[in-house]
Amino acid sequence: MKQVTAIVIGAGDRGNIYAKYALTHSKDIKIVAVAEPDQEKRTQMMEAHNISKENVFESWEELLAQPKLADAAIIATLDKDHYEPTKLALEKDYHILLEKPLSNNAKECVLLGELAKEYPHKVFSVCHVLRYTKFFSKLKELVDRRVIGDIMTINHNEYVGRIHQSHSFVRGNWGNSKRESPMILQKCCHDLDILLWLVGANCVKVSSFGSLDYFTGKYAPEGAPKRCLDGCPAGNECAYNAEKIYLSDNVGWPVSVISPDTSYEARKKALEEGPYGMCVYQTDNDVVDHQIVNMSFDNNVTASLTMTAFCKDSGRHIKIMGTHGEITGDFDYNEIRIKHFPSNDEELIKLTNDLAGHGGGDTGLMKDFVELVRNDGKLKGKTEASISVQSHIMAFAAEESRVTDRVLKIEDFVEEVKNK
Ligand SMILES: NC(=O)c1ccc[n+]([C@@H]2O[C@H](COP(=O)([O-])OP(=O)(O)OC[C@H]3O[C@@H](n4cnc5c(N)ncnc54)[C@H](O)[C@@H]3O)[C@@H](O)[C@H]2O)c1
Repeated sequence: MKQVTAIVIGAGDRGNIYAKYALTHSKDIKIVAVAEPDQEKRTQMMEAHNISKENVFESWEELLAQPKLADAAIIATLDKDHYEPTKLALEKDYHILLEKPLSNNAKECVLLGELAKEYPHKVFSVCHVLRYTKFFSKLKELVDRRVIGDIMTINHNEYVGRIHQSHSFVRGNWGNSKRESPMILQKCCHDLDILLWLVGANCVKVSSFGSLDYFTGKYAPEGAPKRCLDGCPAGNECAYNAEKIYLSDNVGWPVSVISPDTSYEARKKALEEGPYGMCVYQTDNDVVDHQIVNMSFDNNVTASLTMTAFCKDSGRHIKIMGTHGEITGDFDYNEIRIKHFPSNDEELIKLTNDLAGHGGGDTGLMKDFVELVRNDGKLKGKTEASISVQSHIMAFAAEESRVTDRVLKIEDFVEEVKNK
């Protein structure tokens, strides 16, 4: 079987997750070039994948100025840097694996959806990893087999969890919507995508409410300095003390994100100088810490999504209600319970798979992508950009609804976006 070759644009956290698949599945895929401005990350990837020096670049602009170097491009830069490299890589005839969200800009998302249609012979997959998990695949199968009759209502909860919120959406890359993306797009485009997939119909209307309340100056302890390491009087009892989170013996995620070098000294320096050492009540964050979205679909199904930081741990729960039963699912325990009515029969499905990497989704996505590229774009993938664009539009419309206090019709919103 052909070994697929790929270039990596952005050797950060996600770029490395996908690239590592090439190390464990070396017969299937090889990373042959990298673009990354950070010298340490660039060198790490070059060495890990034995990439020749002439194929190592400081930016996607330089890499994509070269003649085509591989079958596929894995694009894992930050949200605002997705559109340009993706467009150019498609023009250069690469198959594409693009991190979600497609872009932090609604118009660019629509344009990428249109580009996907212009290149029907190219694989253009979006990293909606949840579609590749056993858990959500099982739910989709149950819904499609109509085991609870026709779906009427879905309630879905995404528990971002307090530490994940503080790390990524207060101190980290996605704390400020002007720099990156609104929370409902960044964190919940996966969930909106899953709802769209399960309902199997177009979303026609959305409304949304939510705000940033807790991670603000209102809750800052008296006398707290801007950085945790500068002698905070509340340091002992604060649940978000950077020293406790980032300087313990654990150097896995999220600690691994704060510095490519995870030695104690390098982590301490990162806290003294970088964003992860800031007091969570005193950063420039503006994204919500709790939000709900209500949706109506063109088959009259209604769905609601709750996103909240205020949980001990991260997790996802879903309840799907149909004409002849209900399905509840706990993603983190990999458990699905079906209750039938009127019989009152109950079934418990316990799935067994490795829960690491988005419940096995990261690996499933790469496996699928390699197969799609091997078949040179002739097969259909589970997460094509031309479809994914709809869940992105739902997220942008929800944010617009939250900010402007309006119920939005998706059709009208798309027109507004196109005319911007
Ligand atoms: N699929 C998922 O579940 C999931 C989870 C987390 C993040 N993401 C998405 O993945 C993307 C990357 O996130 P991350 O956590 O890896 O961030 P990151 O900051 O760790 O990685 C981004 C990398 O891009 C590099 N970069 C910046 N400018 C560049 C340029 N001109 N050329 C090449 N590289 C450049 C940065 O130096 C950085 O190393 C984001 O869009 C994010 O929203 C997806």
